[in-house]
Amino acid sequence: MKVTVVGAGAVGATCADNIARKELCTELVLLDIKEGIAEGKAQDMQQTAALLGFDTRITGSTNDYTKTAGSDLVVVTSGLPRKPGMTREELIGVNAGIVKGVTQNILQNSPDAIIIIISNPMDTMTYLALTTAGVPKNRIIGMGGALDSARFKYQLSKHLGASAADLNAIVVGGHGDTTMIPLIRLATWNSVPVTQFLTAEQQQQIVADTMVGGATLTKLIGTSAWYAPGAAGASLVESIVRDEKKLISCCVALDGEYGQSDIALGVPVTIGRNGWEKILDFGLNAEEQALFNKSADAVRSMNDVLKTL
Ligand code: 2OP
Repeated sequence: MKVTVVGAGAVGATCADNIARKELCTELVLLDIKEGIAEGKAQDMQQTAALLGFDTRITGSTNDYTKTAGSDLVVVTSGLPRKPGMTREELIGVNAGIVKGVTQNILQNSPDAIIIIISNPMDTMTYLALTTAGVPKNRIIGMGGALDSARFKYQLSKHLGASAADLNAIVVGGHGDTTMIPLIRLATWNSVPVTQFLTAEQQQQIVADTMVGGATLTKLIGTSAWYAPGAAGASLVESIVRDEKKLISCCVALDGEYGQSDIALGVPVTIGRNGWEKILDFGLNAEEQALFNKSADAVRSMNDVLKTL
C-alpha cells in the first residue's frame, strides 16, 4: 500500500506522522513545493521509527510527482492556511489554483488513487476536485466532517465529564463556521441521548463552540490548527486501507441525497477500500433539514466563485 500526502506543512506533516505511527502503508511519500521541506520532515519522521517501532518507509520530494507514482491514496493539504480573523472562504482564489494543479499531477502519476481533500475552503475544494478530476465520485472525499465531529465530541465530553470514546456524535453540512450542523439531537453517550443530561443552554453552547472550533484555535495559535485536522485525515486513510467501513461524516458528491444535487457536502458515509461507499440517511427533522439547505446555499455560492476565477 502506498500513500502520498501533498503539502508538508503542519497539517500534512501531522497527518503523515499519524499514518506512519499506525503503519497504515508500507510506503509513504510527503511532497511539498518548498525546496527541502518534505525531504527534511520525512527524514525527521523516519528517525522516529526506531523509537516508536514502525516500519513504514517515508520519503520526501520537492514537487516531483513521479515519486508519488502508483499511490493508492493521496491526501491533499496544499494551500494557504487561515490567519486570525480570516474565514476559510477567503482562501478560495489562491487555493483553487493550487488544488486543481495538485489533483491533475496526482492523477497523471496515480490514475487509480482515492483522493482525500483537506485544503480550505474544504467543501469547495472537494467540489473542484470532483468536477475537474474526471474520476468516479466515490474516490473524492472531503475530510471536514470527520474533524468537526471530533471537535463536537470534545465539547460534549467537557460538558458531560465523559470519555470522548464513549460518545457518538456527528456534524453534517459545510465545513464553515456558519455552515456546519452539529446534530445534537442524535448525539448519544453510550446509546443514551446526550440531550437527557444537558440543559437547553448547555446544548446551545456546545453547538456554538463546535461551530467556531477551528476559528477559536486560529485565534489562539495565529494560524490554522493541525493536530486534529491531521489526525482526522489519517482516520479516513485508516478506514480506507483497512476497509473498515466506518461511518464518518465526510464531504461527498450529493445526487439527490439529503435533498441536494451538484454539490459536495458533509453527510454520514461509510468509508472503505473503494473510498466512500454508502451515504446514510439520518432522517433529519424539519429544522435540521432547513439548516442543511441553508448550508448548501452558502456552499453553492462559494462554488459559484470558481466560475469567476
Ligand atoms: C480547521 O478547521 C484546518 O479547516 C481546518 O482547523
